[in-house]
Amino acid sequence: MPGPKVEFAVWTRLIPESEIRRLLKFKVKYYFAGGKPGVLPLGAFPMILNTLALQELESIFSGREVDVIEDYNYGPTDGLPEVRKVMANMMRERDGIDLDPEEGWKEVLITTGSQQAIHLVLDVLLNPDDLVIVPAPVYLGFVNVVTKFRGQVIAVPGDKQGMIPEYVDRAIDKAISKFGRKPKLIYVVADSDNPSGTTMPENRRKALLDVAKDKGLYLVEDAAYREIQFRGERLKPIRAFDEDGSTVIYMRTTSKEVAVLRVGYNLMPPEVREEVIKAKGYNDLCTPTITQKIAKVYYERYFPQFIEKVREGYRKRYEAMAKAIDEDFPDGERTDPTGGFFIWWEAPKKDFDSKKFLEEVAIPNDVLYVPGQAFYPLKGYLFHPESGDLVDASHRPTNALRLSYSYMEPEVIEEGIRKLGSLLRDHLS
Ligand SMILES: Cc1ncc(COP(=O)(O)O)c(C=O)c1O
Repeated sequence: MPGPKVEFAVWTRLIPESEIRRLLKFKVKYYFAGGKPGVLPLGAFPMILNTLALQELESIFSGREVDVIEDYNYGPTDGLPEVRKVMANMMRERDGIDLDPEEGWKEVLITTGSQQAIHLVLDVLLNPDDLVIVPAPVYLGFVNVVTKFRGQVIAVPGDKQGMIPEYVDRAIDKAISKFGRKPKLIYVVADSDNPSGTTMPENRRKALLDVAKDKGLYLVEDAAYREIQFRGERLKPIRAFDEDGSTVIYMRTTSKEVAVLRVGYNLMPPEVREEVIKAKGYNDLCTPTITQKIAKVYYERYFPQFIEKVREGYRKRYEAMAKAIDEDFPDGERTDPTGGFFIWWEAPKKDFDSKKFLEEVAIPNDVLYVPGQAFYPLKGYLFHPESGDLVDASHRPTNALRLSYSYMEPEVIEEGIRKLGSLLRDHLS
């Protein structure tokens, strides 16, 4: 019998399945596609699970079954207080964020990963046609959610140091004069951007915050790669300069720095936090209690000891990839990340189609990456610095690749990149 003839929500036609999720189904020898963490603190997990198991056994044998029942139960929508306290300490000590030692933890909001934080923030802020400023290229898990809520993006080009605050400022003014309304927020990944791998220097961080404050917009600082900084000095997050916490929506996650536990920890201006908690209540009720407990034990006992090793592991993978690109790729330009999971490479030939090349050449040769065009908005506007105008963003550059070095061992990366380099050389010469 045919199913009901019911029309799906409009957004289902506006955005396709995520390119990264689509590529996950290909099983290849050289996987440079999604930002899957491959260096995990493996030694810590059995100890954490053991600690939790012993605590539970003790509770059961001493007649406090209720504590164990709580481990597997619904918890507060904004997260367990004891977990929020540990995360508040992290952000005070490692990020230099001025949180009150006694009460500051109440500002921390736990989400089911950063992706949920992104979704909820956009859910509570966007009405159809609202404008959002993003970098070009941009994390597609942000930009496609803007489209899902029928917002409009204005993509602003950057350089090797990330977003250019002056362009952001001009793009906002242009949006006001062209559309008669002000964008609501700016999105940025200041530490090792996904996809471009760029890191913003401190003066740009401050300048971008000044633009947001001056123009009265929220600034979403997605700090997914905050702890995966393996070269150069440790910079403060933009949130540390937002002294009254009124402007920056700061998102951190366990995903890249520990494991994909689906635990995000965030700071938001109070009025945003309140609405986001309301939305989260209708979205998942709460983040799983048991994974929050795993995160708590990890950060309390194991983080300092393991993070160096994790970072070192990614540094080796990055070096293997960068060296193989420099030695074996044809002429082109790559970014030089100080951390994170990705290198962005561009062929000089603008008509090179990296998506077609992926499907026709790379995948049959066991290599997977994400074509650059996946990281440009499907619709919306692009700020054109020379003319100062906002042009149609649907023309997407096709000549770039995003290469992830996070998942494979250095030797396999080297082998796969050399192979990809030789395929590219044959194709582009
Ligand atoms: C920039 C950025 N933000 C957010 C996320 C999602 O993080 P989470 O696993 O915490 O949902 C990712 C994952 O790849 C990311 O790269």
